[in-house]
Amino acid sequence: MQAVSRTALWVASMRATEASRPDRLHDDPLAAAVVASAMASEQSIPPAPPGAAEFMAVRTRFYDDFLGSGPLQVVVLAAGLDARAFRLPWPSGTRLFELDLPELLAYKASLIDSVGLEAGCSRVVVPIDLRDDWATALVAAGFSSSSPTAWIAEGLLQYLSEPDKKRLLDTISGLSAPGSRFAFDHMDTSADDRESVADALDRIRSMGAEFVATVSDPAGWLTAHGWSVAVDRVPALAVEYGRPLPDFMDPAASNATALCTATLP
Ligand SMILES: C[S@@+](CC[C@H](N)C(=O)[O-])C[C@H]1O[C@@H](n2cnc3c(N)ncnc32)[C@H](O)[C@@H]1O
Repeated sequence: MQAVSRTALWVASMRATEASRPDRLHDDPLAAAVVASAMASEQSIPPAPPGAAEFMAVRTRFYDDFLGSGPLQVVVLAAGLDARAFRLPWPSGTRLFELDLPELLAYKASLIDSVGLEAGCSRVVVPIDLRDDWATALVAAGFSSSSPTAWIAEGLLQYLSEPDKKRLLDTISGLSAPGSRFAFDHMDTSADDRESVADALDRIRSMGAEFVATVSDPAGWLTAHGWSVAVDRVPALAVEYGRPLPDFMDPAASNATALCTATLP
């Protein structure tokens, strides 16, 4: 598995922590299996920094809510060990494409088999590097660019170089029929000097992944390409969900992550 894919195990381990809470914001049926399999194979997953699981639970819920309002064609970019195909109540006729690196998706397939999960929608897996020509692979897998799409890119942009991010966003725009929607997160560089951010980045680097500065203004870029964009911040959403972030967390660092929702008119 490529180093960057180990970050998928890391966030899944945080979802496992969330699943054990009585007031959980989501319940991921794959997450515990990820942790157990990592332990069994002696793959180390770095411990999450204090508050990271709570932070990630809000991010997860944001995407869950986004996907709750259609359309029926869904593309999960950099799906990692995301189990939404199995755990969300999909309307009949939903077709969901998961894209990620081949080794990660092969590992995920073995976990899904071991847990015995059945998707609640038509799930199509597209093993591909998102720096390559993934549009052709997606269309070959049955994606229709004339139907509106709900796209999500959760925890992805920070692992792509600036030109790769721009290409990805261009490709999404090119494949999006009117009525399409797109949710993604990105982290402002404004909080890079905060201790908690430096700590999280160190843990990510300890997995061999490189966390790169994101496009300075993806929301502005999307607006210039005809999308209309709304931005949420994690601490405010946490309050809205009835689970404020723990007091010890640095508000500047927590506010540096923007959760963006873009729609094409
Ligand atoms: C932090 S994980 C997020 C996974 C998932 N979206 C989630 O939130 O649980 C980052 C994911 O991006 C994927 N990824 C990073 N670079 C990629 C690339 N060039 N092509 C395809 N997938 C990539 C990794 O394999 C990994 O699954």
